[in-house]
Amino acid sequence: MAKKTIADLGDLTGKRVLIRVDFNAPLDKMSGEIKNDRRIRGAIPTLKALLTAGASVICMSHLGRPSGDPAKDKLLTMDKVLERLADLLDRPVTKAGSTVVGPDVTAAVAAMKPGDVVMLENVRFDPREQKNDPAFAAAIAALGDAYVNDAFGTCHNDGDASMVAVPAALKAAGKPRAVGLLVEKELVIIDGLMTTPKEPVLAVMGGAKVSDKIAFIHALLKKVDHLLIGGKMAYTFRKALGVDVGSTRVADEELAAAQPLLEYVGTKITLPVDCLAAKSDNLATTQFFDRDIDAGFEGVDIGPKTLALFAEKIKAAATVIWNGPVGWFEKPLFSKGTQGVAEAMAGSGAVTVVGGGETAEAVEQFGYDTKMTHVSTGGGAFLAYVEGKKFQSLAQIDDK
Ligand code: 3PG
Ligand code: MG
Repeated sequence: MAKKTIADLGDLTGKRVLIRVDFNAPLDKMSGEIKNDRRIRGAIPTLKALLTAGASVICMSHLGRPSGDPAKDKLLTMDKVLERLADLLDRPVTKAGSTVVGPDVTAAVAAMKPGDVVMLENVRFDPREQKNDPAFAAAIAALGDAYVNDAFGTCHNDGDASMVAVPAALKAAGKPRAVGLLVEKELVIIDGLMTTPKEPVLAVMGGAKVSDKIAFIHALLKKVDHLLIGGKMAYTFRKALGVDVGSTRVADEELAAAQPLLEYVGTKITLPVDCLAAKSDNLATTQFFDRDIDAGFEGVDIGPKTLALFAEKIKAAATVIWNGPVGWFEKPLFSKGTQGVAEAMAGSGAVTVVGGGETAEAVEQFGYDTKMTHVSTGGGAFLAYVEGKKFQSLAQIDDK
């Protein structure tokens, strides 16, 4: 059944809207600077719509994975995110308090006027967040008149209070719960992709571990006409098929994870036909290999023959779904394959959908994000949704 959206929340004049956003932006490990703000930008349309409708807005998000040690976690406060949000909204954003809930927070929220925006401190600073704790959730829920979930990137986290127990507490108090514009868009696009895609459908997969994506790959194989595999996981498949991968590290459990997929290689699955490899003790020394990689070299990117093959398959597809870089794209020397896949997708007439996380970062880094049909803000959430998992967070949202 269709879920309530912000348009179904009624008159919001003077209402306080509690919105769960996913502002878990990648941060520089040393300075704590935001490396990429696309998730913050992703929530702006919903925030602007709520403010235009006369509401005040209480934002809440997690940021990173706090350890519980305040010295280590000091870069994970919401301060940098809040500054960026204020810039993007072009209005002040203040922190409600130094703890997630408490008397300061309640007082700050009570003083809000229409058009005001406050942000709660990193919800994971309170250990009750990831225990889906009802008392913690009730304290948060008491702050708002309505709840909006615009945190697509976190929708798969079934045990997080801000995603599940908080909307449950609002329901118990008779308050409405809706999805925001970002979640609505992600669901419409991914649902469409999985139910009525334009055919033929091609998927491109990369990244390091087969074992992390095994359920996703099986789900994809049921839906797509063809699957191209690149990235680190391609060496796992090649090794499993008896190719010498030189000094590329492939764990035994990865080989085991790839086994049940080998029967598709050559029919539904296409592996790289060549690769770029770098000397393990001097990464600037590189060489292309068609099959076996020499000892002392490790695979770092797909080779030019593979890129040409992948580009040709992308050109022939009506829908292309991409998750996982096909090489070590963070290093310019090893980024040609990933950039080439992005370029081929951007230049094709196909419906192109990029699963979030580092694939989205790569596409953005190369300047192709605006040329794709959709770049998801979900990493793990995108994979889980495509796999067909049902999210507790969305079950909480009121039906229309
Ligand atoms: C993500 O980046 O995958 C989401 O923000 C969820 O974060 P988590 O993986 O730490 O739960
Ligand atoms: Mg995750």
